[in-house]
Amino acid sequence: MSWELIFSIPRTHTATATTKNSLGGRSRGVGAQTLRRAHAVHPVTALETEYSLWTRDAEEEWLPACRELEITYVAYAPLGRGFLSGKVRSAESLIPGDRRHSHPRFQKENLARNLQLLKPLEEIAATKGCTPAQIALAWVLAGGEDIVPIPGTKKRPYLEENVRATEIHLDATDLA
Ligand SMILES: NC(=O)c1ccc[n+]([C@@H]2O[C@H](COP(=O)([O-])OP(=O)(O)OC[C@H]3O[C@@H](n4cnc5c(N)ncnc54)[C@H](OP(=O)(O)O)[C@@H]3O)[C@@H](O)[C@H]2O)c1
Repeated sequence: MSWELIFSIPRTHTATATTKNSLGGRSRGVGAQTLRRAHAVHPVTALETEYSLWTRDAEEEWLPACRELEITYVAYAPLGRGFLSGKVRSAESLIPGDRRHSHPRFQKENLARNLQLLKPLEEIAATKGCTPAQIALAWVLAGGEDIVPIPGTKKRPYLEENVRATEIHLDATDLA
């Protein structure tokens, strides 16, 4: 019998590991060390953490560790929970019960500031004749063939749009 071991690490857990690390005065790497220890006991197939243009902490530890250990890296929330699509223009537009109401980045004032940061993404999308969501996904894909983004959607047109992001090439200028 063979088993696949897949790590899924919520953002809060990553933050906890980093905080403990700095409080303890030790070097960074608690999270990646845990991955290495687990991998030594049983090969880990994939590691899933949040990764997008909006959340890049994975570049510090998780991505290098996955590459070293040849573990597939799964990027969840690659659209920043929809923010990077440019379609969430105000906190009020989110329906009651939407989990993003409790997310600091979607609070009224924070969201207004974050929307300013979207402008370069929207400009590149307009230049290339595609959507900001597609550029956000193309950016994750440009990180390497060992990165697998898993955008979530309830809508077939979004699904089809997101799949077409695999056809977009971002050059060095776009990625800078
Ligand atoms: N392991 C973990 O702790 C963890 C945490 C978070 C997420 N995940 C997983 O990661 C996957 C994706 O994460 P996520 O859904 O939270 O975030 P996401 O993929 O960054 O964003 C999903 C949001 O973007 C919208 N969207 C998708 N495609 C779009 C497009 N082309 N244009 C405009 N809007 C678009 C969706 O709208 P609609 O819903 O209206 O289609 C949804 O609101 C899910 O399978 C989830 O289970 C795992």
